Amino acid sequence: MTSVVVIGPGSIGGAVAGALAVAGHDPLLAVRTSFDQLIVRGPDVSIDQPANCLTDPTAGQRADVVFLAVKAHQTAGARAWLDAFVGQGTMLVICQNGVEHIDRVTPMVAEGAVLVPAVVALPASRSAPGNISIGGKSRLTIPSGEAGSAVAELFAGSFLDIKLSEDWTTDAWIKLMLNAASGGICTLARTNNTVFQDAEVLDLATAVMREVAVVGRAEGARLAEDLPERIMAGMTERAGGHMSSIVVDRINGVPTEWDARNAVVLRLAERHGIDAPLNRVLTTLIRVGEPDGHDGSMT
Ligand SMILES: NC(=O)c1ccc[n+]([C@@H]2O[C@H](COP(=O)([O-])OP(=O)(O)OC[C@H]3O[C@@H](n4cnc5c(N)ncnc54)[C@H](OP(=O)(O)O)[C@@H]3O)[C@@H](O)[C@H]2O)c1
Repeated sequence: MTSVVVIGPGSIGGAVAGALAVAGHDPLLAVRTSFDQLIVRGPDVSIDQPANCLTDPTAGQRADVVFLAVKAHQTAGARAWLDAFVGQGTMLVICQNGVEHIDRVTPMVAEGAVLVPAVVALPASRSAPGNISIGGKSRLTIPSGEAGSAVAELFAGSFLDIKLSEDWTTDAWIKLMLNAASGGICTLARTNNTVFQDAEVLDLATAVMREVAVVGRAEGARLAEDLPERIMAGMTERAGGHMSSIVVDRINGVPTEWDARNAVVLRLAERHGIDAPLNRVLTTLIRVGEPDGHDGSMT
């Protein structure tokens, strides 16, 4: 039987673990904070079952498939788990926001591991360790190919849709456009997405997205000129008061993923000699609001 591990079963990792359980697997949960029951509720799922938690990385053994679902800035802190579970041939599915999944994780894993980046579209939250609520459709977008198909197979019959993408870079940049603009503005305003019903905020978000799209195109993403307007039109139509996880972290006073979701735009813009002034303002203001001067580096 395929051995499967989820490192960091919080909102996303817990939902992924729930989907794996529905599909007949018994994932090992690599945790900092242990819990007895894995409870996942949502429109297409309701499970409550004993959780198979491990708190000691030295007790871990190489696994066939590993899902990494800690926040981007927590990746280095999860290094001991990666050392324990990821070896030659292990498929490591990186369920994080941003576009730098592979660059972030490659230096931390054994040679011969197969890295699979995932764009996460899964509105999940955690009310207590192991207690996950899902608010809508659940999807991971991963590159097509042999590894992608093997990952999709693992979720057969579950509520989690796996989209096999022929152009993962474009999919990841579309998500980054949304995260950088919408997440960034809502973080500074400390509010949810109903703020985009204000015409001036909507214009600002659209302009931020246009800058992100220029950088994305330089990185090889195929992003149509009118994409920012279309994304924001969809957002205002569906604005259901959703609060992004980065806003929740800011309100809770804990470090946020601002490096992976905002500073990344400036980092990659610089690589191509592109100026992104609105993103610089947004990123700077988010950075100075981090607790204890958290510099966005991984912990
Ligand atoms: N939530 C969403 O709706 C959503 C949607 C799309 C994308 N995403 C992305 O998905 C990724 C995961 O986000 P999330 O919302 O699931 O975060 P989360 O709810 O904070 O979950 C992160 C989990 O990682 C655990 N963790 C952190 N460091 C660890 C370590 N060293 N060892 C073991 N466990 C560790 C945390 O444990 P503790 O219990 O000890 O804190 C927590 O359970 C992020 O990149 C996020 O941007 C999230």
